[in-house]
Amino acid sequence: MSPSLTVRRIAADQGAVFRELRTASLREAPYAFGATLEDALSADAASFDATAAEHAVSLRITTFILYTEGHPAGLIEAHFDDTTPRRAFVCELWVAPAVRHLRGGELLVDTASAWLANQGATEIHAWVADANRNAMRFYEALGFGPTGEHRRVARAPEQAESLLVRHVPTTSQASQQ
Ligand SMILES: CC(C)(COP(=O)(O)OP(=O)(O)OC[C@H]1O[C@@H](n2cnc3c(N)ncnc32)[C@H](O)[C@@H]1OP(=O)(O)O)[C@@H](O)C(=O)NCCC(=O)NCCS
Repeated sequence: MSPSLTVRRIAADQGAVFRELRTASLREAPYAFGATLEDALSADAASFDATAAEHAVSLRITTFILYTEGHPAGLIEAHFDDTTPRRAFVCELWVAPAVRHLRGGELLVDTASAWLANQGATEIHAWVADANRNAMRFYEALGFGPTGEHRRVARAPEQAESLLVRHVPTTSQASQQ
């Protein structure tokens, strides 16, 4: 039987869980993220506590955690940038290998998107490294498409990443589905 997957917004006291998931994601999938494992390992525990506390209450940025049978098994960040008009992003998405292909990634993206839409977003953006074919196919399967915007990966300037976007369905579109 498939394990049951649930998603909840991070709580203010989950700095240690956040640190555990971030380091696990950077260790397992270093090609997928802007930060490095060394960055995460050298940061002190207090910085993860501070991030958890902010993401638990902020209207601009948050983290959602995926659980399988109550155990943390993945995460995603949702935030608005500082441009005018501000743009909504999902990033730092990771699902533990043991629970991949069970729709946990989809649940994380949809939950983060709903939170952003609730704050007024009409489009959800995601930067994906061109070399990360799995993530590219994953986002395409969820209805994300190219914006035509590209940039160099800060961690590896010889590589490129592309900006994808998915439109938030309007209430009338959603009720027709
Ligand atoms: C990308 C990732 C989050 C997907 O998580 P997941 O829980 O396995 O994905 P889901 O089960 O929700 O997949 C939803 C759909 O996306 C597509 N998909 C998912 N993984 C895929 C893959 N490896 N190749 C092709 N399509 C894929 C499928 O269409 C899938 O639906 P299906 O299983 O019915 O075919 C996960 O593979 C991961 O953590 N990878 C490493 C980190 C990473 O690359 N993060 C993204 C940074 S931009």
